[in-house]
Amino acid sequence: MDTVLAIETSCDETAVAVVKNRQVLSSIVASQISIHQQYGGVVPEVASRKHLETINLAIAQALDEANLDWSGIDGIAATCAPGLVGALLVGLTAAKTLAIVHQKPFIGVHHLEGHIYASYLSDPELKPPFLCLLVSGGHTSLIYVKDCGEYQTLGETRDDAAGEAFDKVARLLNLSYPGGPIIDKLAQQGNPLAFPLPEGNISLPGGGYHPYDSSFSGLKTAVLRLVQKLQQDSSQPLPVNDIAASFQASVARSLTKRAIACALDYGLNTIAIGGGVAANSELRKQLQQAAIKHNLQVLFPPLKFCTDNAAMIGCAAAEHLNRGHTSPLTLGTQSRLALANIMEIYKH
Ligand code: KG4
Ligand code: ZN
Repeated sequence: MDTVLAIETSCDETAVAVVKNRQVLSSIVASQISIHQQYGGVVPEVASRKHLETINLAIAQALDEANLDWSGIDGIAATCAPGLVGALLVGLTAAKTLAIVHQKPFIGVHHLEGHIYASYLSDPELKPPFLCLLVSGGHTSLIYVKDCGEYQTLGETRDDAAGEAFDKVARLLNLSYPGGPIIDKLAQQGNPLAFPLPEGNISLPGGGYHPYDSSFSGLKTAVLRLVQKLQQDSSQPLPVNDIAASFQASVARSLTKRAIACALDYGLNTIAIGGGVAANSELRKQLQQAAIKHNLQVLFPPLKFCTDNAAMIGCAAAEHLNRGHTSPLTLGTQSRLALANIMEIYKH
């Protein structure tokens, strides 16, 4: 049984957790959202500096809440890729330093593998293979989960991630950051059929469209054109609720269609969902309905494990440690790293 202290600083949350295999002993998440809100998005340099200010306190708090001292920790983990390099560096350096000082193994973790492991936290009995629909501010991927460290990306967005599209459309509508939760709330009062919007299909040369890849930048542009047209044609206030509902329904349809097709084509009967957009009520509704129709199971981890946190990183690290996978102290950060190359993290 491996107990891991894990650090996650890939974006705008300073997170530290203590995890015993699939059991969370403590999970601290210090969000920087209120700081970045004034800029309308994450400012990388501000994020790094804030991580630096917060990290030591978060580590102490995570140990304290887990009721452990360093003798109860078997390994120290940190997200090493992908993410904002300066931000990642803070968590990675803290983890390596602690590993040296306390003479513990060090485990680097791929951020997306962490999101996949959030599903194991909510259902410790879950076993691969399954399909993971990962929808966050930085990623929109359909991942075939074969085993720990063994992943095949079957579908991706060709441009904006789903969460990024929510944030950009929110900005277009003069709403605050992050846009996802606000659009979700306004959409409750709107008509999803008010405005027909594209579903982000990628056309194939021989006709038809790519079954698993998507594009959200076209959808975002369609919303921009719609807003411009409405503003030109009428002096009435923008029907923000209807635009939010129509946009959200279109994203949910696009993701649902691809996830279901992918699961059926690959014979996977469980779809686990992760990332901040997994909170979206319309996506949850459409995916649940489609899954019932096709006799598939959908797993929605609780929101605190869907958005960025260190418990999911600790859960992935504990499994790697159990399998004897540790990382060299020379491991660096990478802004991008394909999931297919994940085992590079454990090469000595
Ligand atoms: O996973 P996450 O916390 O951070 C990343 O790794 O990116 O995801 C953040 C994203 C933001 O783009 C935010 O707008 C979106 O998740 N989001 C939502 C909702 N809640 C958060 N998008 C749609 N509906 C929501 N309810
Ligand atoms: Zn994330």
